[in-house]
Amino acid sequence: MGTEWPPTPAQQRKAVVSAGSALKLVLFVILAGLALRLLVGPPAYLLPPTAAPEGAARLFAVPERERTAGGGGGGIPSVESCDLFHGEWVPNSSGPAYTNASCRFIESPQNCMTNGRPDTDYLNWRWKPYGCEVSPFDGKKFLDGMKGKHWALIGDSILRNHVQSLLCLLSKVEDATEVYHDDTFRSRRWHFPSYNFTISLVWAPFLVKAKIFEDDDGVSTADLQLHLDVLETDWTSQWEKFDYAVISTGQWFFKTAVYWENGAAIGCHSCQNKTLEERPPEYSFRRALRVAFQFITSSPHKPVVFYRTWAPSHFENGEWFSGGTCNRTAPFKPGEAGDREWDNSMWRIEREEFHNAVPIGGDRLKLLDTFELSLLRPDGHPGPYRAYHPYEKGVTAKVQNDCLHWCLPGPIDAWNDVIMKMVAKD
Ligand SMILES: *[C@@H]1O[C@H](CO)[C@@H](O)[C@H](O)[C@H]1NC(C)=O
Ligand SMILES: *[C@@H]1O[C@H](CO)[C@@H](O)[C@H](O)[C@H]1NC(C)=O
Ligand SMILES: *[C@@H]1O[C@H](CO)[C@@H](O)[C@H](O)[C@H]1NC(C)=O
Ligand SMILES: *[C@@H]1O[C@H](CO)[C@@H](O)[C@H](O)[C@H]1NC(C)=O
Ligand SMILES: *[C@@H]1O[C@H](CO)[C@@H](O)[C@H](O)[C@H]1NC(C)=O
Repeated sequence: MGTEWPPTPAQQRKAVVSAGSALKLVLFVILAGLALRLLVGPPAYLLPPTAAPEGAARLFAVPERERTAGGGGGGIPSVESCDLFHGEWVPNSSGPAYTNASCRFIESPQNCMTNGRPDTDYLNWRWKPYGCEVSPFDGKKFLDGMKGKHWALIGDSILRNHVQSLLCLLSKVEDATEVYHDDTFRSRRWHFPSYNFTISLVWAPFLVKAKIFEDDDGVSTADLQLHLDVLETDWTSQWEKFDYAVISTGQWFFKTAVYWENGAAIGCHSCQNKTLEERPPEYSFRRALRVAFQFITSSPHKPVVFYRTWAPSHFENGEWFSGGTCNRTAPFKPGEAGDREWDNSMWRIEREEFHNAVPIGGDRLKLLDTFELSLLRPDGHPGPYRAYHPYEKGVTAKVQNDCLHWCLPGPIDAWNDVIMKMVAKD
């Protein structure tokens, strides 16, 4: 499955190396080589076990104006008075929309049911925005409304996780035919013949052009080279074909990288080359989003574009390489998610860049602001059940946890429920 699990976030690499212990370094390399290639966040991802403030309804203090503008400049006529992205998870026993038995599109590392995850409560919650309802995804209605249309989903492995969910929801109506895949199966396309409906999955983890030097185990032979002013042509060259596009990016920006602009190396993040100026991931993230939105707003072709916000990870008591886990079995209560400095910083940047693009891009730009609803679901990740029956050899087995991608079925099915609601009146 290749390098879709970025291995070595810069912060961790630096932290380990600066510990100065050869043993630790060796261990680190081995762990990286074991290649879970989990992408991970910086140390700020460690969750302080904070108690929920009394009566706190919001996770973060976000000005009301800013939030309600989140629909993309008021581009959601059906829900004018309701912020779809602010609400709570409510218990609901009707169960998931599909299962490991009914959907063939669930990739093994996210197939928590088949992999033997013992608890099932995580399947019994529905996203409930304050002031309105989000109905379960209606595949028939969706496909009827999308006859002859082409959707593109563009991004990284979390985005692919999202595509699997969409395929599972739609395959209840009609089985999709795969009509294209690249050598690595990272970019793929499916067709629903009765509806002439097409979904393209386009691999572009940074949206901008990146040269990645990693082998299949996720071990880097050189720092990745990121061209912050050049978009990845895998998605831009196909842009004219798409009627709808879901765009996202994320935690790859935490990796060690050399940053290029105007054909010159202008800085880097955590790289070895001391002649280059250190720049934080916020810098490259903002630059990449800006150039992506510039393309989207200036292109003569005008699909409906959903920008999906930051997907948080939920490692606790360590990071992916140091025994971090995510073994909660219920959503966070308000305030329980802790102070997420890095997440919040990236989330703020992407909303700023989105809102800067809306006056030019107009109503067809929509913010799929799933950050908060996702953050509330530490129970929705595979954890050890990224592997098939990980404890078969006893509970003491050393097992890698995935607290970044999401179980399917699972909480991110709600991303599609919300999309359904957003397109309902389009
Ligand atoms: C569960 O969710 C479904 C779909 O939204 C809804 O029809 C049903 O009433 C809910 N059940 C409970 C017990 O809340
Ligand atoms: C689905 O998961 C259940 C356990 O939740 C398991 O018993 C069953 O064999 C799985 N089915 C498939 C097709 O993997
Ligand atoms: C199917 O949809 C595509 C656009 O996605 C269109 O170009 C093509 O003509 C359609 N085919 C039929 C048979 O309607
Ligand atoms: C370090 O960066 C400078 C400036 O881009 C470049 O000229 C030099 O070749 C780089 N050194 C190494 C070892 O990559
Ligand atoms: C969850 O993981 C922590 C270690 O990160 C462990 O101490 C705790 O016992 C685990 N809880 C359960 C229910 O397995």
